[in-house]
Amino acid sequence: MTTNRTPATRRPVRWHTGGPGAAQRLLGRLRDRAREQQRAEAHRLLEADLRGLWREACAGVGLCQYIDVATGMTVRTPKFGALRLGPAGTSFTVEQLPGGEPDDITRHAARLAHSLGFAGLRVQPLAGRWLRVVLFEVDPLASTFRLPDDVIGRADAPVLLGRAEDGSLVEHVLASPGHIAVQGQNGSGKSQLSYGLTAQCAAAADVLVTGSDITGLLLGRAWDGTAHREWQVTGSRDLVAHAEHLDRLVAWMDTRLDAMPPRRDSVTPTVQTPLVLVVLEEFPGLLRAAQAKDRKLAERITSAVLRLLSEGRKAAFRVLMLAQRFEANAVGGGYARDQFAVRVSFRVPAESLAMLHGDDARPLGPEHANAAPGIAYLSAPGHDCTRLRAPYLGGYGAFCDRIARHGRRPDTDQEDAA
Ligand SMILES: Nc1ncnc2c1ncn2[C@@H]1O[C@H](COP(=O)(O)OP(=O)(O)OP(=O)(O)O)[C@@H](O)[C@H]1O
Ligand SMILES: [Mg+2]
Repeated sequence: MTTNRTPATRRPVRWHTGGPGAAQRLLGRLRDRAREQQRAEAHRLLEADLRGLWREACAGVGLCQYIDVATGMTVRTPKFGALRLGPAGTSFTVEQLPGGEPDDITRHAARLAHSLGFAGLRVQPLAGRWLRVVLFEVDPLASTFRLPDDVIGRADAPVLLGRAEDGSLVEHVLASPGHIAVQGQNGSGKSQLSYGLTAQCAAAADVLVTGSDITGLLLGRAWDGTAHREWQVTGSRDLVAHAEHLDRLVAWMDTRLDAMPPRRDSVTPTVQTPLVLVVLEEFPGLLRAAQAKDRKLAERITSAVLRLLSEGRKAAFRVLMLAQRFEANAVGGGYARDQFAVRVSFRVPAESLAMLHGDDARPLGPEHANAAPGIAYLSAPGHDCTRLRAPYLGGYGAFCDRIARHGRRPDTDQEDAA
């Protein structure tokens, strides 16, 4: 059979008829094409390299399934899809194993990332079993992370708790139910975190920063001239004042519970009924000092704090308790400790970490016992065992400046709590 279709002829490159500069333009185009081919080849090689490393790393951390086939045992790992290199960083897609969850990868994030030659990774679910793994060149926990000069305007806006290992920001909404426990050895970063938290909500019209601080640094003088100051008791000279103040807060909470509107079981923070953040800085120290003076006084303080912890949630009261170690005896008993939904541990001995976060935190114990100041371990609803770097506000002077700048001034709109 014959065909009369003529083969396509290659058209000659007529650069000599292309007008002025045609030869240069042609050379430019050829160079671009060569560069693009080189780039595509480099991309292909890097992709093949990472694919191999990914497979080995997954098998190394046990993120694999062993399948018995006729030729022997074969290892199946989450499938590496396509590599993406761009200004936003390096990432690739992965198809999870049947029955797999993004958590399976997150749990081994640091080890997998290190095997690939990166400092960390974050997992973003895509569709179905597919995920995107975003790689980080720099360890987000290793460098100091400055707290932006931002404040929240309302109790239901999120405050920044820190930056997680995967580079994502970890936030907490004060209005969400849950008291906050912060533990850590001397100089581990408890106060810096609390400076940041309180400074972020100092301006909110529906938040009142109250509490007891025997050190007089977190609360007290720094808050002079603000609406919060009259609700704060400081110093260790007059311990009865601390007990009286906590009783006053409990009485306020009771008034709210008694006045609960029909068909409602919790108070929503408003300007008239603000969210009351009860800060208890170095609470075990307050209890010890009270015990040394008068056993009854210590019991009075403990029972007031227990009431705030157990019933505060409904009345828009939130406790932020700081301690070097959340031992049951030191914080008013195991029941008190169990009331904290948000738990943050800076550098603490391995035992203390497991005590506050449970057995899941045990494997990290030895490493976390030597963590640098500002690195914390967080357990909270939606954040299971997250390591983060708390934001650094810039020293005590910077904290005082922020409170002076943003601290809400006294006004007459709020309910009469007395
Ligand atoms: N998030 C952070 N980023 C960088 N450095 C930090 C951070 N947090 C704390 N530091 C450093 O550690 C020092 C001690 O922190 P901080 O005063 O918060 O400790 P602490 O746990 O409150 O100690 P103490 O039990 O003695 O009160 C700070 O002065 C600062 O230099
Ligand atoms: Mg401190």
